[in-house]
Amino acid sequence: MSTSSSSESPRHPFLDGLSKHRGAPPTVVVIFGASGDLTARKLIPAVYNLGHDNLLPPEFFLIGFGRKEMGDGAFRKSCAEAAREHSRREVLDDIWERVADHTSYLAGGYDEEAAFTKLRKKIDKLEKNLDRPIQAVFYISTPPSVFKPILQNLGAAGLARRHAGTPHASKVVVEKPFGRDLASARELNEVIRREFDEQQVYRIDHYLGKETVQDLLVQRFANSIFEPIWNRRYVDCVQITVAEELGVGSRGGYYEQSGATRDMIQNHTMQLVSLTAMEPPVSLGPEAIRDEKVKLLKAIQPLNPKPGEGDAVRAQYAEGLIGGQKTTGYRNEEGVADDSSTETYAAFRLSINNWRWEGVPFYIRSGKRLARRVSEIAVQFKRPPGILFSEADRFDLAANTMVIQVQPDEGLTLLLNSKIPGLETRTQPVKMHFRYKATYGSNTPEAYERLILDAMVGDSTLFIRGDETEASWKLITPVLEAWDSLGNRGLETYAAGSWGPLTADQLLWKRHHQWRRPSL
Ligand code: BG6
Repeated sequence: MSTSSSSESPRHPFLDGLSKHRGAPPTVVVIFGASGDLTARKLIPAVYNLGHDNLLPPEFFLIGFGRKEMGDGAFRKSCAEAAREHSRREVLDDIWERVADHTSYLAGGYDEEAAFTKLRKKIDKLEKNLDRPIQAVFYISTPPSVFKPILQNLGAAGLARRHAGTPHASKVVVEKPFGRDLASARELNEVIRREFDEQQVYRIDHYLGKETVQDLLVQRFANSIFEPIWNRRYVDCVQITVAEELGVGSRGGYYEQSGATRDMIQNHTMQLVSLTAMEPPVSLGPEAIRDEKVKLLKAIQPLNPKPGEGDAVRAQYAEGLIGGQKTTGYRNEEGVADDSSTETYAAFRLSINNWRWEGVPFYIRSGKRLARRVSEIAVQFKRPPGILFSEADRFDLAANTMVIQVQPDEGLTLLLNSKIPGLETRTQPVKMHFRYKATYGSNTPEAYERLILDAMVGDSTLFIRGDETEASWKLITPVLEAWDSLGNRGLETYAAGSWGPLTADQLLWKRHHQWRRPSL
């Protein structure tokens, strides 16, 4: 007896029914902020690559929405240029044409109700022509100042409730920054909840779309050797580094309102903390995973922001050398105030008050213009008793460390101690590497490909839930407020190209720890 369902589902080159990712229903993606930087650098290339991999539904439409007056042709041309410049793969004309044929543009103000009525009519017309229900995915990729009017107008025009309660219900993807403190995040959540149900909402944190971040759950829960030692009995400390070599570039204006803590710590870095430290979820379903992340975030103790004696350090880059080239200090960057107190580096010591992690510090840091671009999670294990190998000059012992290298050169490294071959017993730390590139080749999808696809198929596992973002802001907001009231007092500087300020080292010395120097 044949169990094939191919006779029931239409075969199409875009749809082969092999995985849930190949089952996106007819979809129109509307990008608000269509002429923005993120659209060009990430969203359009991601859509192209999904098309390349036959992962777009056969009935896929793209509408760019923005304030700029522009015709369909001009928008398609700008998308084609963006895809060619930023796609990870060479753009093939026939694949691009299939996307471009279904791409159009609508000019309008985000606070202009009539423009949203026009949008609704446009989507209704697509649906009528198709003669099948079509789901709308609204991707808000604008400056945060217009998040609210967009959400309200989606509600007012009836777009938020389109096909409510059916598999074709609208979805809204909200880019970062999601608020700038706890109060504004709560307010934004309230606006969202007035128009959408939580299941329709996809708050983006693009770190969750990275392969290595997804692999973190597989490493932890698909290998039985880690779970018994993943706790306070064996782990000495955890260090999470999200370092960038680049400065703020042309984004000085945005960055002045943000700083490293809002830009990188509250979201990306805290996501890495929760996935590393959370309890095993009861399933891999979105709610089960997000429940555990929220529980973990809530178990982190309030931070003491006091400069010099607390749990937090902030600093700003001064001029320095990157790759042998002299680079300017933050305050000389375009769009940055001469007396700016914005931190371009932040480090925190987190204490997690639960059974698993009591007494194990989690050190996290993120900064721009650091020595190297590297994101990693390092789990440092306790040292063995020193009785056998105690003569320091013969036995160079390192703490066993498992390093999950999030990027670049994605992989996993185990730091072990080994005997140097020879007649004498001498030891040396050695590394065991697993490298994605060596094992799987280098054709890894970009985070945005995975996230756009997940939103289309309705899988919210890799998106942030409303209570999750609030839990993270709850922890971070008191520190931001304390820094705000201190102005420049307690703000350190570090040379561009270094690993940050000395005070960040002191944060660890108090507990007899030392930052790792991430190396390949
Ligand atoms: C963004 C920040 O969210 O992440 C940027 O706004 C930062 O400032 C970027 O450069 C880093 O992302 P990635 O994927 O390059 O590590």
